[in-house]
Order: sequence, then structure tokens, then C-alpha cells
Amino acid sequence: MATIDLYRGEIFYFTAPPGSGSGACRHFEDGALVVADGRVVEAGPFEATRARYSNTPVTDYSGKLIMPGLIDAHIHFAQSEIIGMYGRQLLDWLNEYTFPAEEAFGSMEYAREIARFFVRELLRNGTTTCVAYATVHAASVSALFSIASEYDMRILAGKVLMDRGAPDYLMDTVATGEAESRALIEEWDGQGRNHYAITPRFALTSTPEQLAMAGRLHAEYPDTYIQTHLSENVGEVEAVRSLFPGYADYLEVYERAGLLTDRTIFGHCVHLEEREYKRLAEAGAVVAHCPTSNLFLGSGLFRMEEANRRGIRVTLATDVGAGTSFSMWRVMGEAYKVRQLTGSSMTAFEALYKCTLGAAKALSLDDRIGSFLPGREADFIVVDCEATPVQRLRGEYLRSKGRWTIENKLFGLQTLGDERNIYSTYLMGREQRLTDD
Ligand code: GUN
Ligand code: ZN
Repeated sequence: MATIDLYRGEIFYFTAPPGSGSGACRHFEDGALVVADGRVVEAGPFEATRARYSNTPVTDYSGKLIMPGLIDAHIHFAQSEIIGMYGRQLLDWLNEYTFPAEEAFGSMEYAREIARFFVRELLRNGTTTCVAYATVHAASVSALFSIASEYDMRILAGKVLMDRGAPDYLMDTVATGEAESRALIEEWDGQGRNHYAITPRFALTSTPEQLAMAGRLHAEYPDTYIQTHLSENVGEVEAVRSLFPGYADYLEVYERAGLLTDRTIFGHCVHLEEREYKRLAEAGAVVAHCPTSNLFLGSGLFRMEEANRRGIRVTLATDVGAGTSFSMWRVMGEAYKVRQLTGSSMTAFEALYKCTLGAAKALSLDDRIGSFLPGREADFIVVDCEATPVQRLRGEYLRSKGRWTIENKLFGLQTLGDERNIYSTYLMGREQRLTDD
């Protein structure tokens, strides 16, 4: 018989985009989450729910929030070590820090060591699903999938394809890139909670032939995802323009290769032109907005309002190591500031939606993750909104004014929060023990 677990706390999750009607979110101030066999059975008000599970022991998280785990839609696991490196703009940063750091991932042992750090760091930050770049080495992908599997973490990842514009020690060819990607897809895609993402790094490091190969591979394996970078930095966009004469814009380089799909996640998209916005929307493609990275590398300000207006599916992401934190709270906070600087604003609900159900929908995984609807996988976090002195001070103030609302709690997490606010992380209903590092 299934073991049933019941968690008590303040429960919050989305069932639809915020603003789409009164039923878009479910919020139970004194709530219960019922989990059996790693899946959500139901979520509801504590007393009424408890009455139906009277023999089930209660794990009491009263005073804390219980919400679906956070989703990071763009991150480089092999850049965990080079987070926060001083230095100029994207292309300098890649050559100076990134490529040299990725060389070591040809060693399975090394790749496994960093993959373990990476997975544990994500969990410490409340991130329960990520879309990750490995390196050009097949071993790095196997290392990441196998460590994620140990933790039973849902992950999307793939081998970087690069057949030009990178150091010799990091390059593959059309043929080896195809053979290795194919073997990895066969081995890992759909195994446990693993999904393969075909990963041409960006237009500057793949020939048109390699990009076309990546497009064919996706057509052959339509369940795979595609991830790449698009229009991050002005210098990069200019370089793409001169490397690909005869193309309307940056996106068309991917489009002609069959890489513009509703399973493609484009990182950044800061400097898009009119046609690119239009085609991203028409294709149902996904944008991963990486504000901490864009600010750190001086890449520019993503126009989320513009993307929203056109119905483009926007997710949020850290982009570590150019991103400066593993915390999705930090990402939400910086995304808010980027919105402020681009003439709009973003509610706490919109930010959280884009890291939970919105991201799950964008990744076509909302039947499994992103909410507490019955049958969803029980990936959830327990959040302490008052983990630091200033957060407690703010909480006391808001309480005294009768304004300790869910909106103010979430917005406080987004402006002041980090991994200290993640009290506990659960994957498939199992609490992750992460305190030994
Ligand atoms: N564009 C191509 N590769 C990378 C990378 O590793 N990081 C970022 N931020 N942009 C890229
Ligand atoms: Zn990136």
C-alpha cells in the first residue's frame, strides 16, 4: 500500500497565468499537501483535508510556505567554478574564463564531481528542475544525467556542439557531434527523469552544416528539446551578421537549420528585431531571460513587456557562470529591476509563475511539474520568508500594518531572498538532505 505523507503549511501554487481570472492561483494560509508514491494526491485547507487522512502523521511546516520547486531554464553546469569572474563582455569572458574551464570536463571523474556540486547547489536554492548545458564532451553529459538520476531530479541537458570558433581542445565536427549526440539521446532521453536537449552552443561556434545536422537530429527525435543562445550581446550580434551574410537576422540562422520550434529554448534574446519577435511568437519558441547574467556582462536589458505582449513564452534563468547566483529569487529580483528600467513593472505573481507553472508549460512538462494539481510529481520547497534579520524586521512591520499578504511575502523573497530562505527541498516526495556541505 502506498505511504501517504501530509505536510502542513501555507500553500501556494498556480493553475493558470496570473491575471487570467480569479482561479489562477490556489492559496491556503493553513493548508495541507498530501503526497503518495512521490506524487501529489491533493492540496487544500488543513482541517478539512486532515479529516480525510486521520491516520496519517503530519509534517508540520506551519509558518512556512510550501510551493512547487523552482525551474531554472538556462544554466551551464560546467561553469559552476567560474561564477563571478571579473571581466568585460561576453566574447572576452568566453575566451578568458569559460572555454578554459570547460576543458576539464573530458574527464568523467571531474565532471561527476562538479555535477554533484551543481545538483546539490540547485537543490539548496530550491531549484528542482533545470535546463542545462554540459560541455562538448559526451562524458560531461553522462556525468550530469547520472548524478541527477541519483537524486531523482528532473533535468533537461545536452552535449554542446561546436565545430568552429572555439579552441581546438573544445571542438567536435558535424560527424562526431552527430554520433555523440545520437548515442546520448539513445542512452538518456526519457530515461527516468532525464530529457535530452540538442545543444548547438550558438551561431558563432557552429557551421551552417552543424546547425542543419542539429535540426535534422531533432526532427528524427521529436521528443528532444533544443537549447541555444540568441542575441545576447551587441558584439555577438554583429559577428553573426558578418559570419552569416544573406540572412535576415540572427534568428534566421537557426530557423533555416530547422532549430526554431516550440521545443527550443533560446537564452537571452536581448537585442531582437521586429521579425525575430514575430517568428519566436509564431513558432511557440521559449525565451530564457537571464537578468543577472545580462547585467553582469553588460549585455543589455531584455524587453519582457514586449515579449509578453506578443505572447512569447518567457521563462527565467540564472545562466551561471555568467549569472551571478544559483538562486532563482535573485533572478526574479533582477528581472523586476530590468522591467523597471524598460518602462514597466512585474508583479511577484508574474515572476513566480515564470519560474513554476509558466516554465513547466513552456517546457511542455506541466502535466508533471509546476503545480500541486493531483498526479503531479511532488517536487516542492518549504520556504522561510523570514530567514534573515532584515526579513524578520520587514515581516514584523508588515504584520503590524495588517499587510503580511502572500504578495508581500513573495515580493520580499524576490527582492531580499536567497538560499537561506529555502528551508527544505523535496524531489518526488523525498526530502533532500543537503546540510553536510
Ligand atoms: N553564448 C555562447 N556561449 C555562452 C555561454 O557559455 N554563456 C553565455 N552567457 N553566453 C554564451
Ligand atoms: Zn548561457
